[in-house]
Amino acid sequence: MRELLVMKNITKKFGDIYANKDINLIIREGEVHTLLGENGAGKSTLMNILIGLYQPTSGSIYYRGKKVKIDSPSKAMKLGIGMVHQHFMLVEAMTVFENIILGVTKDSSIFIKKDRIKKDILELASKYGLNVEIDKPITEISVGEQQRVEILKALYRGAELLILDEPTAALTDIEVEGLFRVIKKLISEKKSVVFISHKMREVLEISDRITILRMGHTIKTLDKNKTNAEELAALMIGKKMVSSKYKKVSKTKENIIALEHISFNKESKHNGIKDISLTVGKGEILGIAGVDGNGQSQLAQVVTGVITPHEGNIYLYGKKVAQFDPNDFINSNISHIPEDRNKMGLIGDMSVKENLILKSIEKSKFSLKKGLFLKKKIINQYSNEMKKKYDIRCSSIDQEVRNLSGGNQQKIVLARELEMEPELLVAVHPTRGLDIGATKYVHDKIISARDKGCGVILISADFDEILKLSDRIAVMFEGQIVGIYSGDNPPIDEISLAMAGKAE
Ligand SMILES: Nc1ncnc2c1ncn2[C@@H]1O[C@H](COP(=O)(O)OP(=O)(O)OP(=O)(O)O)[C@@H](O)[C@H]1O
Ligand SMILES: [Mg+2]
Repeated sequence: MRELLVMKNITKKFGDIYANKDINLIIREGEVHTLLGENGAGKSTLMNILIGLYQPTSGSIYYRGKKVKIDSPSKAMKLGIGMVHQHFMLVEAMTVFENIILGVTKDSSIFIKKDRIKKDILELASKYGLNVEIDKPITEISVGEQQRVEILKALYRGAELLILDEPTAALTDIEVEGLFRVIKKLISEKKSVVFISHKMREVLEISDRITILRMGHTIKTLDKNKTNAEELAALMIGKKMVSSKYKKVSKTKENIIALEHISFNKESKHNGIKDISLTVGKGEILGIAGVDGNGQSQLAQVVTGVITPHEGNIYLYGKKVAQFDPNDFINSNISHIPEDRNKMGLIGDMSVKENLILKSIEKSKFSLKKGLFLKKKIINQYSNEMKKKYDIRCSSIDQEVRNLSGGNQQKIVLARELEMEPELLVAVHPTRGLDIGATKYVHDKIISARDKGCGVILISADFDEILKLSDRIAVMFEGQIVGIYSGDNPPIDEISLAMAGKAE
């Protein structure tokens, strides 16, 4: 196979930190090349250099044998390099169509040609099986569909090398299969794909070759057929890892939270919930299984006081909740690892330490007179302790969190929420985007919170995660609970059917 792209001795420094150091990478025509590495290893940075968002501190790039300088995303686009970012970059106020054509042509005749362009886009979409609703605003389509829009946008601009930065993190198994069909189609046309994922099973399924990055360095490039999950994991973290198996507990008598006939927007299949009754006991993990977009977000928002149910009652520690207010829920010792850490979990332009104490700032441990005078020394000490304990990789606790790698941002949310020693933990996709080491760490943490008596509502689109951690499993479909199963030897086939809406 011919070489399409060569990155040679690429180094990128941010201040004193080397995000990439002396990286060498060769992408061939018609291959799926996976970048594998821990959170903060430098994968996104390297690809942002390729797409012209960052300039390397040193090193060179060759495209089809010629040395190139990629100083802007439009230059990358001209060369035929397109990228779907880890955090989507669609303009929410615009429609699918407007997003796809954004910046492609400044020509005012676009309005005249609109119908033809739309037809072209739809043809492209059907060729690759990228099902999108072209006139809908971005806010009204699911995460999976937003991703299809991003891919379509890149292909419409003529991408021959498509970079997918953790494209499967937010997708369900069925959507991942759809994405893989698109990737295979691209490969059959001799296009190339750079794939980034922390999920070993996917990496071994879709890749032709795999390059391991560790702490900004390239460790090795391997043929998929000549390696296995253990070797890859060991290369990635620099040592062998043992996976853990957790003991399941049976339901305790004492309820932490009880929902009785809760409904919210109950007519809506995708963002409503309908007549939900369930309980979570002290020291148990209730896993909510289901395909994303079946009301899980709304359920999480109700049990954290973010939205008020239209019908039904919630009892916390046996007392009926009179008013739904997120602060009241926080004060009732409920922690929340939210679905979207960028929108709900973190404040990007605040520092690591500010984000760590965000919810505890009024506590006497960190301030006098309810947040008026901060105990700076103690806050610094505490933050450095958390940095170490949760292995948050940042240059210092004063770094703005938006500059951290995706996985390290997630660790800050976890540190903050778990350190509050909650009595109820609502964890929504808690390991999305985390590397295997960090995922194991979070799983251990959730289990140990449970063992200390914390009740946990675990919402995850990752079925393996649900099976591994849950003491009981509730399946959600179209806003309803369609079955509750024991987590000890659960009937996997039956649960899968229930998730697809095919329960008896
Ligand atoms: N704009 C920036 N300013 C300062 N440091 C940065 C910036 N962008 C990235 N870094 C640092 O560079 C390192 C590599 O980050 P990068 O986002 O490339 O990691 P990653 O491999 O994509 O991780 P993840 O799997 O968590 O997404 C991290 O230590 C990060 O904090
Ligand atoms: Mg990244």
